[in-house]
This record gives sequence, structure tokens and C-alpha cells, in this order.
Amino acid sequence: MSRNISFILNGEQVSCEIMEHWTLLHLLREEMGLTGTKEGCGNGECGACTVIVDRLAVNSCLFLAVDADGTTIETIEGLASEDGSLHPLQQSFIDNGGIQCGFCTPGMIMSAKALLDENPHAGRREIQHALEGNICRCTGYIKIIDAVLLAAKIIRESKKINFEKHSIGSS
Ligand code: FES
Ligand code: FES
Repeated sequence: MSRNISFILNGEQVSCEIMEHWTLLHLLREEMGLTGTKEGCGNGECGACTVIVDRLAVNSCLFLAVDADGTTIETIEGLASEDGSLHPLQQSFIDNGGIQCGFCTPGMIMSAKALLDENPHAGRREIQHALEGNICRCTGYIKIIDAVLLAAKIIRESKKINFEKHSIGSS
């Protein structure tokens, strides 16, 4: 059976007709062409398909598209700014050697983003915990965790600068 659903995807309201058995992963990749979200295992074990739904990192291969109705979804395609500058997490993965083949990277970054949105002061242990469902077959995990730690620092510093600019502007 088909259904109409609507949700916010990377800041834009979208509506579409879906089949009730589709996963969110299928909807994003096969129907919407958002191939940044990867399909690895297809059964909730690798984290390659991770996206953010209502601020939580979820495995989109296990999430039914019908349950996306009314939610707010973020995928890797929504992270860079309109001027093309990368999100601090994306840049930090590049700068710290957190990417080799890149297959796990969108899922790693979305899991890390969900954590840092919630807790920009997350330390190594919290990052390890947040990424424990994301498997990388290439890099080892130390560089990935270092990349998230550095991105967290950059995000905190940019928030501080923005706050100071705002305070000066309003005084
Ligand atoms: Fe979804 Fe592996 S493809 S967890
Ligand atoms: Fe290849 Fe992680 S960089 S799987």
C-alpha cells in the first residue's frame, strides 16, 4: 500500500508518496537520490546508513519510511554550508585522516553530529560510546575519534566567538 508523508529534510519541507514497506534508507537513496547515506549490512549492524531523525542518530535501514512522517531528518548532504564550506566534522575527518575508503564516513559523521548537537563538550569516552554502532573496515578508530574531538573543539570555539560578537553587537 502507498501513503503520502511529509517531513523536513535538511531544512526543507518535503512531501512524497511511499510504499509502506520501504525503509527510510530506501526512500533516501533509491527514491530521492541522496546516496551520501550508505547501505552496508542492511540489518542494523554497521551504522553506515546512520541519519539523524528528530535529533537522534538512527539506522535508516531499520527505520520505516512511513515513520518519517512529521519528523525532521538530517543527512550528510545537509551538513555543508550553502557557500560550499564543510561542516567542522567533515573538515576534521579530512584533516585528521579519519577517512580512507569513506564508506563508513557519512554514518560516522551523522552519529558524531547527533552527539555534539546534544553535548558539544563530549569527551573521548562519550564519543567512543556514540560511535560504537559504526563500523570502519579501514582506518582503525583512533583517528576518527581524534577527528570528532577536534571538531568538538572547533564548534565550541566558533560558538564562543559568535556569542562574543553578539554580546558586543548588543552592548
Ligand atoms: Fe544500516 Fe548497516 S546498513 S546498520
Ligand atoms: Fe573505509 Fe571506514 S574509511 S570503512
